[in-house]
Amino acid sequence: MKNTVAIILAAGQGVRMKSRLPKVLHTVSGIPAVVHVIRAVRSMGIGRIIVVVGRDAETVKQKIGDGVEYALQAEQLGTGHAVMQAAQQMSGCDGHALVLCGDAPLITVETLRAMIDKHVSGNLACTILTAIFKDPTGYGRIIRHQNGKVHRIVEEKDASFVEKAVEEVNSGAYCFAARELFSLLGQLDRNNKQKEYYLTDIVGMLTDQKQTVDSYVARDQREILGINTRMDLARAEKILQERIALRHMSEGVTIVDPSATYIGCDVVIGADTVVEPFTVIENGATVGEGCVVGPFAHLRNGAVLAPGAEIGNFVEVKKSKIGTRSKAKHLSYIGDAIIGERVNIGAGTITANYDGRNKHQTVIEDGASIGSNTTIVAPVTIGRGAVTGAGAVVTRNHNVPANAVVAGVPAKIIKMKE
Ligand code: UD1
Ligand code: CA
Repeated sequence: MKNTVAIILAAGQGVRMKSRLPKVLHTVSGIPAVVHVIRAVRSMGIGRIIVVVGRDAETVKQKIGDGVEYALQAEQLGTGHAVMQAAQQMSGCDGHALVLCGDAPLITVETLRAMIDKHVSGNLACTILTAIFKDPTGYGRIIRHQNGKVHRIVEEKDASFVEKAVEEVNSGAYCFAARELFSLLGQLDRNNKQKEYYLTDIVGMLTDQKQTVDSYVARDQREILGINTRMDLARAEKILQERIALRHMSEGVTIVDPSATYIGCDVVIGADTVVEPFTVIENGATVGEGCVVGPFAHLRNGAVLAPGAEIGNFVEVKKSKIGTRSKAKHLSYIGDAIIGERVNIGAGTITANYDGRNKHQTVIEDGASIGSNTTIVAPVTIGRGAVTGAGAVVTRNHNVPANAVVAGVPAKIIKMKE
C-alpha cells in the first residue's frame, strides 16, 4: 500500500446533526466516527493519511492527534472542493488516492482491501464503493450506460424520477488514480441544486474521457452507512455493538444478551467471562478471564478486573484494580481504588474518592472483608484481612491495620462551614 494515499473528508458542517460538536467527532462505540475511519486505513498499512478539516478544525485536529497530515478547507463548498484542498500535498503522487468520508465509520478493512484490489487489478481510473439499497433515499445514485458500464453519479437532489429509482448508491468512498483525479478537480463547477463542487462529478468527467470506472459493491450494505443525523448515529452504534459482541463471543466470552449490553470498541475481555444483561463496559476497561460482570454493572475507564473477579448489580468501577477472585456484587461505587485478592465488598460500599477538589486513592488489601454500607473516605488503606462492620465510616488517613475489626461511625462535627 506504499503508493496509496488516503484522503479523509472531515470538514463538513454536519447541519443535520443539529449539534455544537462537529459531526465527525460524535462518538460511536466510544471513539469519534472519523477515528474509526483512520484506524481502518492504518491497519491496511497505508502510511500517508490526509484529513481534510474545516468546521472546528482545531478541535477536530486535537481529537485526532498526530500521525496524519491535515489540509484545511476554510469554506465548505462541497466534497470536490474538500479533496482539492489536498492538491498541494498530493502533487507528485502518481499512485492511488483512496478518498473516504469521515462520517462513515462502519467501513471495514476487508472491504477497503477488496475495493483497492479490484481497482489495481482492473487498472481503473476510479473504483466506487457502492451498495444496493431497497430505499436509496439520500444517497447519490450510480447511473450506468445501456451496456452496464458506469457512466456517472447523480445526487439525490439533482436526480430525475427515473434516476431516483436506481438502487445502487454511492458510499462516498472511492479509489482514484491520483494524477487523473487532481488534473480534473479544477474543472468542477457548482451548477447543481446544492451549488457545491461535487466530487461525484469527477466520475462523469472520467467516463467522458473514455477512462474506465467501475463499482465495487459492498457485501454488507450496512458498512457504508454515513452518519448525517442522530438516527444514523444510533444505527451505527447498534451495528458496531453487534460486531464487538460477536468478536468477544468468538474469543470465548459469554454475552448473555448482546442487544442489552454496551461494550466500547477497545475493551479487552478474557475468555470464560460472563457478561450479564444491562451491563456497560467503556473503553479503558479490561476484564480478565473467568469474571462475572453484571447484570446492571458499569465498568468505566481504568477499571481492571483480575481473573475471577465479580462485579454485580448496580456497581460502578472507575480507575480501579479489582484483584483475583474479589467481589463487589451489589450497589457500590469503587473509584480510584486498588483492591487486593479475595476481598469481599459488601452491598452499598462507597469509596468517597473526591473531596470536591482532588481525587484520592483507596487501598484494600488481600482478604479484607468490607461490611455492607461501609463508606471509605480516601485516601486510606484497609489492611490485609481487616473487617469493617456494617455502616462503618472509615475516615481519611485513618488506616485500618491488618486483621483489625472496625465498626461505627466517627462522624462528628469537626468544624463549621464559613
Ligand atoms: C455524499 C455524496 C453522495 C454519497 C454520500 C454517502 C457528494 C456530492 N455526494 O453526499 O453521493 O451517496 O456522500 O454518504 O460527494 N465534506 C467536507 N467538505 C465539504 C462537504 C463535505 O469535508 O465541503 C465531508 C463531510 O464532513 C463528510 C463527507 O464529506 O464526511 C460527506 O459529506 P456530506 O455532506 O455528508 O455528503 P452527502 O450529502 O452525504
Ligand atoms: Ca454523508
